[in-house]
Amino acid sequence: MWLYDPMLHRHIPPMAVRDIAQIGDPVLERVALPVADPTAPEIRALVADMAGSMEAAGGIGIAAPQIGVSLRVVLFFLPADRDEAGQGVALTVLVNPMIEALDDDMSVEFEGCLSVPDARGEVPRAQRIRYRGATPDGEIIERIAEGWHARVVQHECDHLDGILYPERMDEDDEMLDMAEWRARNATAPEPEQA
Ligand code: NI
Repeated sequence: MWLYDPMLHRHIPPMAVRDIAQIGDPVLERVALPVADPTAPEIRALVADMAGSMEAAGGIGIAAPQIGVSLRVVLFFLPADRDEAGQGVALTVLVNPMIEALDDDMSVEFEGCLSVPDARGEVPRAQRIRYRGATPDGEIIERIAEGWHARVVQHECDHLDGILYPERMDEDDEMLDMAEWRARNATAPEPEQA
Protein backbone atom coordinates (compact mmCIF):
# COMPACT_ATOMS: atom_id res chain seq x y z
CA MET A 1 0.00 0.00 0.00
CA TRP A 2 1.25 3.48 -0.85
CA LEU A 3 1.50 5.92 2.05
CA TYR A 4 0.31 9.48 1.72
CA ASP A 5 2.99 11.96 2.77
CA PRO A 6 1.24 15.19 3.80
CA MET A 7 4.53 17.14 3.72
CA LEU A 8 5.30 16.19 0.15
CA HIS A 9 1.63 16.09 -0.93
CA ARG A 10 2.14 12.84 -2.68
CA HIS A 11 1.88 9.11 -2.24
CA ILE A 12 5.13 7.39 -1.36
CA PRO A 13 5.60 3.81 -2.45
CA PRO A 14 6.93 1.42 0.17
CA MET A 15 10.66 0.79 -0.21
CA ALA A 16 11.89 -2.71 -0.69
CA VAL A 17 15.44 -3.86 -0.24
CA ARG A 18 16.39 -5.97 -3.21
CA ASP A 19 19.44 -8.10 -3.87
CA ILE A 20 22.15 -6.32 -5.80
CA ALA A 21 23.27 -8.06 -8.99
CA GLN A 22 26.91 -9.07 -8.91
CA ILE A 23 29.55 -9.07 -11.64
CA GLY A 24 28.90 -11.94 -14.05
CA ASP A 25 25.11 -11.43 -13.94
CA PRO A 26 23.91 -10.84 -17.53
CA VAL A 27 21.63 -7.95 -16.43
CA LEU A 28 24.78 -5.93 -15.73
CA GLU A 29 26.07 -6.48 -19.27
CA ARG A 30 22.93 -5.43 -21.12
CA VAL A 31 22.25 -1.99 -22.60
CA ALA A 32 19.24 -0.80 -20.58
CA LEU A 33 16.08 0.46 -22.30
CA PRO A 34 14.96 4.09 -22.25
CA VAL A 35 11.96 4.88 -20.04
CA ALA A 36 8.92 5.96 -22.08
CA ASP A 37 7.24 7.91 -19.25
CA PRO A 38 9.53 9.07 -16.41
CA THR A 39 6.46 10.09 -14.35
CA ALA A 40 4.81 6.65 -14.43
CA PRO A 41 3.99 5.28 -10.94
CA GLU A 42 6.08 2.18 -11.71
CA ILE A 43 9.15 4.39 -12.09
CA ARG A 44 8.50 6.02 -8.72
CA ALA A 45 8.20 2.55 -7.17
CA LEU A 46 11.42 1.45 -8.92
CA VAL A 47 13.25 4.51 -7.59
CA ALA A 48 12.02 3.76 -4.07
CA ASP A 49 13.36 0.21 -4.32
CA MET A 50 16.66 1.50 -5.71
CA ALA A 51 16.97 3.97 -2.83
CA GLY A 52 16.14 1.31 -0.23
CA SER A 53 18.60 -1.16 -1.74
CA MET A 54 21.36 1.44 -2.04
CA GLU A 55 20.89 2.56 1.54
CA ALA A 56 20.90 -1.02 2.86
CA ALA A 57 24.13 -1.73 0.97
CA GLY A 58 25.77 1.51 2.11
CA GLY A 59 26.32 2.89 -1.40
CA ILE A 60 26.26 6.45 -2.75
CA GLY A 61 24.76 5.56 -6.11
CA ILE A 62 22.84 2.81 -7.85
CA ALA A 63 21.52 2.07 -11.33
CA ALA A 64 18.30 0.14 -12.06
CA PRO A 65 20.13 -2.83 -13.65
CA GLN A 66 21.87 -3.38 -10.31
CA ILE A 67 18.51 -4.47 -8.86
CA GLY A 68 17.71 -6.49 -11.96
CA VAL A 69 15.68 -3.90 -13.90
CA SER A 70 17.08 -3.08 -17.32
CA LEU A 71 15.80 0.50 -17.57
CA ARG A 72 17.70 3.80 -17.85
CA VAL A 73 17.27 5.08 -14.28
CA VAL A 74 20.04 6.05 -11.84
CA LEU A 75 20.19 7.73 -8.49
CA PHE A 76 23.09 9.03 -6.44
CA PHE A 77 24.16 11.51 -3.82
CA LEU A 78 27.53 12.86 -2.79
CA PRO A 79 28.50 13.23 0.87
CA ALA A 80 29.97 16.64 1.70
CA ASP A 81 33.33 15.09 2.64
CA ARG A 82 33.59 13.53 -0.84
CA ASP A 83 32.83 16.78 -2.66
CA GLU A 84 35.76 18.99 -3.64
CA ALA A 85 33.40 21.97 -3.25
CA GLY A 86 32.59 20.78 0.29
CA GLN A 87 28.83 21.01 -0.17
CA GLY A 88 27.82 17.54 -1.25
CA VAL A 89 25.03 16.77 -3.68
CA ALA A 90 21.51 15.90 -2.54
CA LEU A 91 19.93 12.63 -3.59
CA THR A 92 19.32 12.98 -7.32
CA VAL A 93 17.27 10.76 -9.61
CA LEU A 94 17.95 10.80 -13.34
CA VAL A 95 15.72 9.03 -15.83
CA ASN A 96 17.17 8.60 -19.33
CA PRO A 97 20.37 10.48 -18.37
CA MET A 98 22.79 11.89 -20.92
CA ILE A 99 26.33 13.02 -20.21
CA GLU A 100 29.01 14.82 -22.17
CA ALA A 101 32.59 15.59 -21.23
CA LEU A 102 33.27 19.33 -21.23
CA ASP A 103 36.97 18.99 -22.12
CA ASP A 104 39.75 16.40 -22.39
CA ASP A 105 40.85 16.55 -18.72
CA MET A 106 40.81 13.17 -17.01
CA SER A 107 41.37 12.21 -13.39
CA VAL A 108 42.19 8.82 -11.90
CA GLU A 109 40.83 7.77 -8.49
CA PHE A 110 40.05 4.51 -6.75
CA GLU A 111 36.35 3.76 -6.92
CA GLY A 112 34.11 0.95 -5.76
CA CYS A 113 30.94 -0.67 -7.06
CA LEU A 114 28.14 -2.44 -5.21
CA SER A 115 28.26 -5.06 -7.99
CA VAL A 116 32.03 -5.68 -7.72
CA PRO A 117 32.52 -7.00 -4.19
CA ASP A 118 35.56 -6.56 -1.97
CA ALA A 119 37.61 -4.44 -4.37
CA ARG A 120 38.58 -0.92 -5.31
CA GLY A 121 40.11 -0.03 -8.67
CA GLU A 122 41.73 3.02 -10.21
CA VAL A 123 39.47 4.39 -12.91
CA PRO A 124 40.13 7.26 -15.32
CA ARG A 125 37.09 9.51 -15.73
CA ALA A 126 36.35 12.83 -17.38
CA GLN A 127 37.02 15.57 -14.83
CA ARG A 128 34.23 17.88 -16.00
CA ILE A 129 30.89 16.90 -17.50
CA ARG A 130 27.48 18.26 -18.26
CA TYR A 131 24.62 15.89 -17.47
CA ARG A 132 20.92 15.99 -18.06
CA GLY A 133 18.01 13.73 -17.17
CA ALA A 134 14.33 13.65 -16.35
CA THR A 135 12.92 13.16 -12.85
CA PRO A 136 9.86 11.17 -11.75
CA ASP A 137 8.25 14.57 -11.01
CA GLY A 138 8.39 15.46 -14.69
CA GLU A 139 11.20 17.96 -14.36
CA ILE A 140 14.46 18.14 -16.27
CA ILE A 141 17.72 18.36 -14.35
CA GLU A 142 20.71 19.82 -16.15
CA ARG A 143 23.98 20.37 -14.27
CA ILE A 144 27.66 20.87 -14.75
CA ALA A 145 29.72 18.65 -12.45
CA GLU A 146 33.35 18.01 -11.72
CA GLY A 147 35.55 15.75 -9.65
CA TRP A 148 33.75 13.11 -7.57
CA HIS A 149 30.34 14.47 -8.56
CA ALA A 150 31.22 13.92 -12.23
CA ARG A 151 32.76 10.54 -11.38
CA VAL A 152 29.71 9.07 -9.67
CA VAL A 153 27.42 10.17 -12.52
CA GLN A 154 29.74 8.58 -15.10
CA HIS A 155 29.92 5.38 -13.01
CA GLU A 156 26.11 5.12 -12.84
CA CYS A 157 25.55 5.93 -16.51
CA ASP A 158 28.08 3.23 -17.45
CA HIS A 159 25.83 0.71 -15.68
CA LEU A 160 23.07 1.63 -18.15
CA ASP A 161 25.36 0.68 -21.02
CA GLY A 162 26.41 -2.63 -19.49
CA ILE A 163 29.84 -1.36 -18.41
CA LEU A 164 31.44 -2.07 -15.02
CA TYR A 165 34.39 0.00 -13.82
CA PRO A 166 37.07 -2.70 -14.36
CA GLU A 167 36.40 -2.30 -18.10
CA ARG A 168 37.28 1.40 -17.83
CA MET A 169 40.66 0.72 -16.20
CA ASP A 170 43.86 1.17 -18.18
CA GLU A 171 46.74 -1.29 -18.06
CA ASP A 172 48.66 0.63 -15.39
CA ASP A 173 45.62 1.27 -13.17
CA GLU A 174 45.60 -0.84 -10.02
CA MET A 175 42.85 -3.06 -8.66
CA LEU A 176 43.16 -3.94 -4.97
CA ASP A 177 41.15 -6.18 -2.72
CA MET A 178 39.99 -4.46 0.45
CA ALA A 179 42.70 -6.00 2.65
CA GLU A 180 45.36 -4.57 0.33
CA TRP A 181 43.56 -1.25 0.04
CA ARG A 182 43.34 -0.88 3.83
CA ALA A 183 46.97 -1.92 4.28
CA ARG A 184 48.02 0.94 1.99
CA ASN A 185 45.53 3.52 3.26
CA ALA A 186 45.60 3.40 7.03
CA THR A 187 43.70 6.63 7.60
CA ALA A 188 42.06 7.58 4.31
CA PRO A 189 38.29 6.95 4.08
CA GLU A 190 37.40 4.00 1.88
CA PRO A 191 36.15 5.02 -1.56
CA GLU A 192 32.37 4.58 -1.53
CA GLN A 193 30.61 2.01 -3.66
CA ALA A 194 28.09 3.00 -6.32
NI1 NI B 1 28.56 0.41 -9.67
